[in-house]
Amino acid sequence: MGLINTGAAAQTIALPGTAPAPKRPAPRAPTGSVPRHVAIIMDGNGRWAAARHLPRLAGHRAGAQAVRRAIEAAIRNNVGWLTLYAFSSENWQRPEDEVSDLTGLLRHYLRHEVAELHREHVRLRAIGDRARFGAEISRELAQAERLTEGNTRLNLTVALSYGGRSEIVAAARAVAAAAAAGTLDPAAITEASFSAYLFTAGMPDPDLVIRTSGERRVSNFLLWQAAYAEYLFPEVLWPDFSASHFESALADYATRDRRYGTRPEP
Ligand code: IPE
Ligand code: IPE
Ligand code: MG
Repeated sequence: MGLINTGAAAQTIALPGTAPAPKRPAPRAPTGSVPRHVAIIMDGNGRWAAARHLPRLAGHRAGAQAVRRAIEAAIRNNVGWLTLYAFSSENWQRPEDEVSDLTGLLRHYLRHEVAELHREHVRLRAIGDRARFGAEISRELAQAERLTEGNTRLNLTVALSYGGRSEIVAAARAVAAAAAAGTLDPAAITEASFSAYLFTAGMPDPDLVIRTSGERRVSNFLLWQAAYAEYLFPEVLWPDFSASHFESALADYATRDRRYGTRPEP
């Protein structure tokens, strides 16, 4: 037939001259729409503090305030899914005192903010290697996830000790183990079935990834999931991020033409 089946998405592509071109799939997010899932690489806390001759911890504290503003802005703008990159698997390489400050802030956040998230009908999830934060934080994260699991106003996911490559390797290892045990047929593995082995199983892919502080790199964030995300790199340092920055990002997203490899509309 001269057709290539690309698998999970079941998009069938005709090779030139071999078959009539199939109907182009409708874009999932037409121009002008609100992103269903916004993911943010919250960067620039250290530079914010340095500019004020303050310790880096002051920047991280101010960054925690910006988290609150981003959550409120997501709720007000009907964004259903918000994912925040709070600590990467590479951030363990920072000096011990900074890691301990960040862990302390996380513990404080879990103890003092979860009740408020629950009141606001926010569902909290964590992705990443949470065990590295120790038994206590792991337990508190699990409790917060259980407490909020019935909430539907906003799905808030916090990436903690998260790395995209190690997430994919862990998924590959689990898939290989199932195949070796004879419970999974390698030929039956699809993009959709592989996705179910990732931390983000069941979550929609991000539509928009924002990285603050002007850095233009992805730093190991949602490598698989952001395959077709739109990216935005505002200059604002994370502690200065406000509702208006969030809304400008939504306005920019609304102008994008997401084509997923199809031909632009004439
Ligand atoms: C982001 O701010 C917070 C974390 C990575 C934990 P940084 O601490 O990376 O701030 P800069 O990039 O040094 O300004
Ligand atoms: C990425 O920021 C991770 C988070 C924002 C949590 P980094 O500041 O750690 O990334 P690099 O080192 O500049 O790539
Ligand atoms: Mg940084």
